[in-house]
Amino acid sequence: AASSISADRVPDMEKRKLMNLLLLGAISLPTVGMVVPYGSFFIPAGSGGAGGGTFAKDKLGNDIKLEEWLQTHGPNDRTLAQGLKGDPTYLVVEQDKTLASYGINAVCTHLGCVVPWNSAENKFICPCHGSQYNNQGKVVRGPAPLSLALVHVDVDDGKVLFVPWVETDFRTGEDPWWK
Ligand code: FES
Repeated sequence: AASSISADRVPDMEKRKLMNLLLLGAISLPTVGMVVPYGSFFIPAGSGGAGGGTFAKDKLGNDIKLEEWLQTHGPNDRTLAQGLKGDPTYLVVEQDKTLASYGINAVCTHLGCVVPWNSAENKFICPCHGSQYNNQGKVVRGPAPLSLALVHVDVDDGKVLFVPWVETDFRTGEDPWWK
């Protein structure tokens, strides 16, 4: 009897291990898929800007020039740039083809995944646990507790500049939580 029990248990344990691996894979894959590309893409670079700001950099690490950006990014575009402290930050092109005066920090307020833009849904949708943010980064579905952080977007000598946002959050009318 003892041998038949252990014979039964072995495949059971193997199955459990396999299930754990599958579960782990299902959870970690989206995270890895998002974090790894952006992680290698945004190598921290000490880039001084005027007046406490930081020049926005593209994926190659070059300063972003407003005119060129608007030639290659159409209305309603949201594309990541390297922002303050190296945070991945969306530049927003408005419907009238101007660059929005705010940028959206892409770091999910739940557990920190980089949240991709979904243009078909007109929302930011986090792949990690399904939080959703509207097209200005305001949280519309949890588990994320807060909206995505904002930064100011200025233009200095034709180049796009990020400046910390310390004023009221225009989406909520509240003090910024990220100050
Ligand atoms: Fe975005 Fe959990 S990290 S929903």
